[in-house]
Amino acid sequence: MALVYLNGQFCAPEQAAISPMDRGFLFGDGLYEVVPSYNGQFVGFTLHIHRLNNGLAELNIAGTPTLEEWQNICRRVLDSHEETNLGLYIQVTRGVVAQRGHAYPSATVKPTVFVYAFPIPTPRSAEITSCTPYRVVTQQDQRWQRCDVKTTSLLGNVMHYQHGREQHSDETLLFNPRGQLTEASTSNVFVLCGETVYTAPLDNQLLPGITRHILLDLLHADKKFKVIEQAVDKAQLAAADEVWITSSSREVVPVISIDGVPVGCGEIGPGWLHAFKLYSQGKFNY
Ligand code: PDD
Repeated sequence: MALVYLNGQFCAPEQAAISPMDRGFLFGDGLYEVVPSYNGQFVGFTLHIHRLNNGLAELNIAGTPTLEEWQNICRRVLDSHEETNLGLYIQVTRGVVAQRGHAYPSATVKPTVFVYAFPIPTPRSAEITSCTPYRVVTQQDQRWQRCDVKTTSLLGNVMHYQHGREQHSDETLLFNPRGQLTEASTSNVFVLCGETVYTAPLDNQLLPGITRHILLDLLHADKKFKVIEQAVDKAQLAAADEVWITSSSREVVPVISIDGVPVGCGEIGPGWLHAFKLYSQGKFNY
């Protein structure tokens, strides 16, 4: 039977219950991770837990599982499923309070810890013909100033993503008020201009994506492209040869049109194929 984990117990999903006085529900006061696994093998497990721990420290949430405990919890949830390719959803909130109040409650309040797994697609083979490219739109980023924190308060992201869906597009790329491309509503963005790959540097305007980290590391080691962590502006984006988005569940996806205008020649490019091959071959080393 497929199990979920909630606060020390493994149970069927319909048996897992959370109080409406949980600060995750009342304030969106919590963090999450999505870790992909293929045939029981995780991609970037330690990197995901490290990012989670950074966020927990930032929010003063203590008393969460150690890396080894997370591994054991996630493995047991994974093993309770029949599917071979699964995404693990991990959520930690500040916990359940007696009264609603903005201030952090006393440290005696225990965090709520939840893990469940959901099927994800079998990775595509690294070929142009097996890939469905994205068509995307753009918007000015309307979210808060701490997009580096992987909070469950995702309404800003949800609204940007929904805007894209209503334009029949697959994702929404986000520009800051200075007209620089930071990330997208659910993914990081890479831009290929000639032989140089650009992606925005890590700061408060974007999530430090694990897929971004792995791909940057692989591109640096490979040396085919020059890699620069620098945000591109609208003119540079319009002149780009290729654009890719990255996220744990979608890996590396080529973008062939932005706001209805083709990227480069409007087809999946050789740069994406190279990057996706690197990612496919290297991802289990993280
Ligand atoms: N989102 N930027 C945003 C705003 C994201 O929501 C995500 C991932 C990323 C990519 O991060 P990573 O490579 O660590 O998955 C970048 C996911 C998976 C989600 O919300 O479901």
